[in-house]
Amino acid sequence: MNYQDIATLLQSDPSLIEVNVRGWVRSFRSNRFIALNDGSTLHNLQCVVDYDNFEEALLKKITTGAAIAVTGVLVESQGSGQAVEIQVSSLEVLGVADPEEVKKTILSPKRHSLEKLREQAHLRVRTNTFGAVMRMRSKLSFAVHEYFQKNGFYYMHTPIITGSDAEGAGEMFRVSNLSLENPPTTEDGDIDFKKDFFGKETNLTVSGQLEAETFAMGLGKVYTFGPTFRAENSNTSRHLAEFWMIEPEVAFYDLADNMDLAEDFIKYVLRYVLEHCADDLEFLENRLLQEEKSKPQNERSEMTLREKLHFVVDNNFKRVSYTEAIDILKNSKPNKKKKFKYPIDAWGADLQSEHERFLVEKHFKCPVILFDYPATIKAFYMRLNEDEKTVRAMDVLFPGIGEIVGGSQREERYDVLKSKMEQMDIPEEELWWYLELRKFGTAVHSGFGLGFERLVQFATGMGNIRDVIPYPRTPGNAEF
Ligand code: 4AD
Ligand code: MG
Repeated sequence: MNYQDIATLLQSDPSLIEVNVRGWVRSFRSNRFIALNDGSTLHNLQCVVDYDNFEEALLKKITTGAAIAVTGVLVESQGSGQAVEIQVSSLEVLGVADPEEVKKTILSPKRHSLEKLREQAHLRVRTNTFGAVMRMRSKLSFAVHEYFQKNGFYYMHTPIITGSDAEGAGEMFRVSNLSLENPPTTEDGDIDFKKDFFGKETNLTVSGQLEAETFAMGLGKVYTFGPTFRAENSNTSRHLAEFWMIEPEVAFYDLADNMDLAEDFIKYVLRYVLEHCADDLEFLENRLLQEEKSKPQNERSEMTLREKLHFVVDNNFKRVSYTEAIDILKNSKPNKKKKFKYPIDAWGADLQSEHERFLVEKHFKCPVILFDYPATIKAFYMRLNEDEKTVRAMDVLFPGIGEIVGGSQREERYDVLKSKMEQMDIPEEELWWYLELRKFGTAVHSGFGLGFERLVQFATGMGNIRDVIPYPRTPGNAEF
């Protein structure tokens, strides 16, 4: 059967032509007004039934949560909430929803906390908030592809199962089909991974970067957009154990080109949602305003959600070297007053999110790109600077989010990379192919990784990363 989506109908002019719609009942008022939602838009379609023409038994089944099919004509609405509504001529209940059962769920029409929504993640997509966030997540995904495809990048799929640790951080999920009770062992009593499925130790990928580099050195401009996994025990509002990362990698780009790319890309996708998600953005902006009312005045944000997005789109990101940033932090009020949990006393300190947020939210008050970090706190593959102390790393820091992008110019010199790997105990047997890239037509190249959920958080104003992904995986939680 042919039916139309509510988003399209709500944009249409009233006409006498009959239309069919399907969706889920949000509410049924006075035995007359059905608020119907099909997910295509935040807005409900008002369907007006003339109860004299319908069986009592049928009307009883039109309850919150039920799936129904409606046929009728689209007429000018008599009510004030909408321009058009449906005058129902026939109605079919496709799937009932027992009101007593619905009462116990987040489908019941009242305010539910985001925590409660997470517990019923299989139903939360039918709420206004989560529906809006997920529509925006989808639009942002499309914008990501559109940006790269328009700019000559090729999309590549990097492996999910890998035999190497791209970040050298060792926080990986093992992939194995060996018996946990009785694994095969070597003569020394260690687990014998030669007998494992792949004949070696394997893990879920933490980043597609190293494989993306191999493709950049042949296709020129590439990007990945896929799931990545980190077994870090971080219970924060910005960490997931499974998250989606976008990783462009470009041959012949240096760090400055890389910064330009990151800035241009982020602005493009945010502009895209400003243009294409007006209703959902307006809704989420109001949600945020309501939420912030419960906060003390000085913790409320100065800008509304859309003002924040416009601010990022319309202003240059501030580019600051790590060394400059350390000076600012060292002399900052919170540092002097010992307000930082990790005080900054010397060059070389790793920056914590409290420091990043100070720089972005209090000092510069705009997105910041920090670059040229100490080699000791960054990954092995980053290009060593002439000072031999710093590497061509860059992090993009966002208000309310902290680090949204991490990237670098890559070490393209064979000998330098080889000795760096030795210093950092990165086994050459694992990454011989990565090293070999530097033997055959090596060239300056750069790339970065953007955490997609952090981008969705920024664009939707959601405070917790668990509320911007369908089914969050975090320490102790893999329900659904
Ligand atoms: O800074 P990271 O660890 O960089 C890399 O993985 C590089 N290999 C990327 C590259 O150069 N191609 O991670 C990149 C971004 C972070 O800036 C952050 O936005 C996000 O990924 N991220 C996470 N997002 C959610 N949960 C986590 N546990 C995350 N860890 C990193
Ligand atoms: Mg990082």
